[in-house]
Amino acid sequence: MKENYQQFILDHYKKVASMNKLLPTSSMADQTIRNAEVEFFCKEIEMLYRKKKDLRVFEAGPGNGYLLSILKERFPKIKLFALEFSPELYQLILSRDLKGLKVKCGSICKENDIPEEWGKFDVIICERVIINILNRKDQYLACHNIAQRLLKKGYFIMSESFKEPLQNLNNARSDFSLTPIEESPHNDYLSEKFIEKWCAQEKLREISGQSRTHFLSTHFYLTRIIHEGLRHLGEKNNEIRPKFAHLLTFLEAAFPPAVGQFSPILFRVFQK
Ligand SMILES: C[S@@+](CC[C@H](N)C(=O)[O-])C[C@H]1O[C@@H](n2cnc3c(N)ncnc32)[C@H](O)[C@@H]1O
Repeated sequence: MKENYQQFILDHYKKVASMNKLLPTSSMADQTIRNAEVEFFCKEIEMLYRKKKDLRVFEAGPGNGYLLSILKERFPKIKLFALEFSPELYQLILSRDLKGLKVKCGSICKENDIPEEWGKFDVIICERVIINILNRKDQYLACHNIAQRLLKKGYFIMSESFKEPLQNLNNARSDFSLTPIEESPHNDYLSEKFIEKWCAQEKLREISGQSRTHFLSTHFYLTRIIHEGLRHLGEKNNEIRPKFAHLLTFLEAAFPPAVGQFSPILFRVFQK
């Protein structure tokens, strides 16, 4: 399966495209996460856009193009490029008719799928894309192609999931007798070792971004541990499926973001 995973991924996103069309829920049901990701990318781009309006930004695996549409709206002068693997999602991007967008259907693992005439980029973005490549060698290939297409001092901005914080989350869940959250079959999370090796090979360095790396930690702790833990307790005590939705709203408002390291999704920025 790991060798011939592409068809599995294509079949999955065919269904995602038909169910979600242009909605922000496409590939991300949790809109707190979606909104946080969008703000993370926008904050980084905003800082660069202040200095350079015709910033060349390339998004790999943009799904239905939701983030692309927001970037175009907030930063009208940037030059946008994109490469999407799923033909159905690619068609949805085209249907947005984003002015000036250059987009192609292909794989980030294949160097030649990124048209040479697109040149190099100031910024490359990935929003849960490398984890969607279900073979470690291909994940390295994708990251190699990304590094190669960055201009000197260019930025790679990622929101990707990692194995280490998932382990923290599951350790904390076990304290509440909750079963571990497994990586979905469409994902293979990255590890710190992967990042270290990739940075060393490509001569990239991680830098501090505008947002905290573990920004989503509080959200994961509250939703995947406290909230689920309380529901689980209630259910054990035969209460009628308590939802505690009010408690979650209260806690999300009461706690600052980025407490602990419980979010598998990390916001990270690298520079060439
Ligand atoms: C989890 S979805 C995220 C989509 C989008 N970034 C978003 O946040 O809505 C992963 C995306 O990566 C794309 N993808 C998977 N493998 C790819 C590859 N080898 N090259 C380019 N895109 C790929 C999928 O088709 C899908 O659109």
